[in-house]
Amino acid sequence: MSPLDGLAVPLVGAPLAGGPSTPALAAAVSDAGALGFVAAGYKTADEVALELEEVRRPAGRRFGLNLFYPARDEVDEQALTAYAERLRPEAERFGIEPGEPRWSDDDWDAKLELAAREAPAVVSFTFGCPEREVVETLRAAGSAVWCTVTSAEEARVAADVRADALVVQGREAGGHQGSFLAEAGEPLPTLGLLRQVARATDLPLVAAGGIASGEAIAAALAAGASAAQVGTALLLAPEAGTSEPYREALRGGRPTRLTRAFTGRRGRGLVNRFMRDHDRAAPRGYPQVHYVTAPIRAAARAAGDVEAINLWAGEAYARAAEAPAGEIVERLSAELQAAR
Ligand SMILES: Cc1cc2nc3c(=O)[nH]c(=O)nc-3n(C[C@H](O)[C@H](O)[C@H](O)COP(=O)(O)O)c2cc1C
Repeated sequence: MSPLDGLAVPLVGAPLAGGPSTPALAAAVSDAGALGFVAAGYKTADEVALELEEVRRPAGRRFGLNLFYPARDEVDEQALTAYAERLRPEAERFGIEPGEPRWSDDDWDAKLELAAREAPAVVSFTFGCPEREVVETLRAAGSAVWCTVTSAEEARVAADVRADALVVQGREAGGHQGSFLAEAGEPLPTLGLLRQVARATDLPLVAAGGIASGEAIAAALAAGASAAQVGTALLLAPEAGTSEPYREALRGGRPTRLTRAFTGRRGRGLVNRFMRDHDRAAPRGYPQVHYVTAPIRAAARAAGDVEAINLWAGEAYARAAEAPAGEIVERLSAELQAAR
């Protein structure tokens, strides 16, 4: 049975790497009848193993595990060096240096081994879809494999490697776009993208991006999705590890925008000074730019300086509720019933 068929509520709590995802958040979302996710990104495999242990207590809880596919973008080394130099004054404000523009595979092999050993209900991927052998290994271990796609072409690639379902991520989404084929122009909005992907494949679809109400879930289901994945809607839950300055910004009225300024990969966040000052100069190159800005963002976070941290948020962020995650899921479920 697909993990989507077993859900009491057709809802997935998005993996939220970089702080907001916690074992308590994943557990609360799953316990409310949706599917919670553990976010492996930026952590070591050992750290993720400890989180899985927590989410597994009590035994029998169903949840997903999300991994970053280690894509290798073509990068312009000179542009990367120039960007790191440009950010030197940002770092000097905190008495530090920008980080090195390096590449890393985010502990890929060890995380894949962990995923195969632990066999959560779902293993999902973003930034790329793994090879068919990897998909088959994970499925043989007992997991469904989901790939994040942002275009019909990416959906065809994921269908070719026999993914079980697709997370269809539109441009309204908070955080990074999971695109892995060449970025052609502006990404598509969630509903339009869903309709395109539904024409390109018969796979079950999970809609992501700008969904934070029962009406929006109903619209996604009507456009061909089997479930909706919500990220930003959970950022203000007490179980989330969202930092205080980030929470404060989410309570305000800033606009959101897509930018490469923080990590070299397109992501949507609340507009702040760092984004305004550096967006146009930021080169493509993930995770190299992520490593350049990481010490600056960490220092800004510690100093409570909301103008120099990445404030990932989707277009529907004003609807994020300050309520326990279980209540948020229940509320969305009740709104969905009313909207149907
Ligand atoms: C803070 C934050 C961190 C995210 N981290 C991940 C991640 O680790 N893996 C992933 O596949 N998607 C990640 N996403 C994207 C979500 O999976 C999802 O596509 C997005 O939250 C949906 O849009 P919404 O934020 O408007 O609900 C992240 C999003 C946010 C806001």
